[in-house]
Amino acid sequence: MAPTRAMALCLIVVALLINAAAASSYSNHTVGGDAVWFFNPTTNKTSADYNAWAANRTFNLGDYLIFNTNTNQTVIQTYNKTTYNNCSMDDSLDTDTFQYDGGSNEFGSAVVISVPLTIEGTQYYFSDADDGEQCLHGMAFEIKVNHGLGLPPSLNQPPPPPYVPPPESADGVQTPPITVVTSPPSGGMRTTANFCWLLLVLVFIAFLA
Ligand SMILES: *[C@@H]1O[C@H](CO)[C@@H](O)[C@H](O)[C@H]1NC(C)=O
Ligand SMILES: *[C@@H]1O[C@H](CO)[C@@H](O)[C@H](O)[C@H]1NC(C)=O
Ligand SMILES: *[C@@H]1O[C@H](CO)[C@@H](O)[C@H](O)[C@H]1NC(C)=O
Ligand SMILES: *[C@@H]1O[C@H](CO)[C@@H](O)[C@H](O)[C@H]1NC(C)=O
Ligand SMILES: *[C@@H]1O[C@H](CO)[C@@H](O)[C@H](O)[C@H]1NC(C)=O
Ligand SMILES: *[C@@H]1O[C@H](CO)[C@@H](O)[C@H](O)[C@H]1NC(C)=O
Repeated sequence: MAPTRAMALCLIVVALLINAAAASSYSNHTVGGDAVWFFNPTTNKTSADYNAWAANRTFNLGDYLIFNTNTNQTVIQTYNKTTYNNCSMDDSLDTDTFQYDGGSNEFGSAVVISVPLTIEGTQYYFSDADDGEQCLHGMAFEIKVNHGLGLPPSLNQPPPPPYVPPPESADGVQTPPITVVTSPPSGGMRTTANFCWLLLVLVFIAFLA
């Protein structure tokens, strides 16, 4: 790699770091704001326009949706638009639709349900209570989750890698050794690397200040 290309790469890395830091930190979004997650079965009205609420915010990986509600409403998360439009979990797949349980089975008990945003892209929420009537009357919204800072370590627990059987050694077939060609170190490269480190340290100090 020529020193100028290394320099360009260095500047790109620094720019990306600045950008990531500008995405600040993780947020908790109280669904509906002060109006919270609530449906009035007498008037058939939701306490907030949830799609308007969602349209006004930015959601990132690692953020939480906080549903302040009571057990008369449910919290269903789905990645499947068919399930969302249907207002029902009845025919949904276990792999794309989840119900978040408030832990109480009595009507009207106050609950706070926290849902971490762990997958990028579009996802949907609704309450399927009252046989879907709540959802049909607006207890439903769509959000788009951006990458932001990416998942924090606390939420980033990837599944273990799949088992890969060791390669079978067919008689007489030998894989050739892999030759790694390394270019000789050059003075230009080293100067660029030093400069890059200096720049990174300066940016880091600037953010600490
Ligand atoms: C956001 O909510 C989660 C889950 O309830 C909680 O662990 C975390 O402390 C909250 N973060 C902030 C900044 O309030
Ligand atoms: C609320 O919706 C239910 C079911 O659709 C209906 O039977 C009832 O009359 C509605 N009530 C009002 C106040 O609109
Ligand atoms: C969206 O945000 C703007 C500016 O922050 C605010 O004036 C407006 O009321 C918000 N709309 C909703 C639906 O929350
Ligand atoms: C959901 O789908 C089922 C059949 O899969 C249908 O019987 C039901 O009416 C649908 N509900 C809504 C609200 O569209
Ligand atoms: C969405 O869910 C329905 C069942 O409700 C299923 O038939 C369909 O394949 C799902 N769509 C996707 C894209 O997985
Ligand atoms: C919850 O639903 C039950 C049964 O429909 C009703 O009696 C009760 O008043 C509701 N409570 C609240 C807080 O909405």
